[in-house]
Amino acid sequence: MRKFLVYFFSFWALTVVVGLSVLGLRGSTSRKPPLEVFPDMDHQPKLRPQTVTKFAGFADGLSSRLPVAGTISRDSAWELNSFNTGKTEDGGWVDAMPVPVTHELVKRGRERYDIYCTPCHGAAGDGNGVTTQFGMAAVAKLHDERLIKMSDGEIFNTITLGKNLMGPYGEKLDPKDRWAVISYVRALQLSRLGKKEEIPDAVQANLK
Ligand code: HEC
Repeated sequence: MRKFLVYFFSFWALTVVVGLSVLGLRGSTSRKPPLEVFPDMDHQPKLRPQTVTKFAGFADGLSSRLPVAGTISRDSAWELNSFNTGKTEDGGWVDAMPVPVTHELVKRGRERYDIYCTPCHGAAGDGNGVTTQFGMAAVAKLHDERLIKMSDGEIFNTITLGKNLMGPYGEKLDPKDRWAVISYVRALQLSRLGKKEEIPDAVQANLK
């Protein structure tokens, strides 16, 4: 019986000591790093900002990189100005292009139009693109009087967000490209509105 009591109390004492040392320290903080039995993937080579490192293999060794050419910052893309939205401050449509219309811009617009708009609206804007043969119905004719009179801002908005069956092209065309496309759409419209007298004499001579 005495032997049993000795065992019993030593076991009890041990339990108390172990219990206290494990549970009693919970919640207390220490400045020493914890003992790591299994470090798992805690320590990995990585880029810390604003330092020199060989890790990424850049020639100049800098961990912080400049934005890649052509990067559009979220801030500039979301700033609510007429260039980005096609709307004026009081919520109306921008009447005319907020960027200078240059030969370069129209050329760029033609290229983008041919890629993104021709499949539905047709190369000349007649609303007879190839998709109309496959069930795309009621594609707008860009030469309609209504669209000729439509403000540049409203067309910009249609390109950005789409309209009914037409999907949005905002994520495929940045704002500058959208204005470029509009400048080309205007050129297409003008090509139908011109009068014969407006054609330069040299070109008229060759007309059939
Ligand atoms: C997938 C086919 C498709 C593509 C691609 C497409 N459109 Fe459209 N677009 C339509 C359809 C369909 C309508 C008629 C929408 C409606 O019901 O009013 C339309 C309407 C329009 C309108 C008239 C909107 C209005 O307010 O009535 C404009 C302007 C226009 N598109 C410009 C463009 C331009 C610019 C592009 C190229 C960036 C383009 N679309 C690409 C199918 C397309």
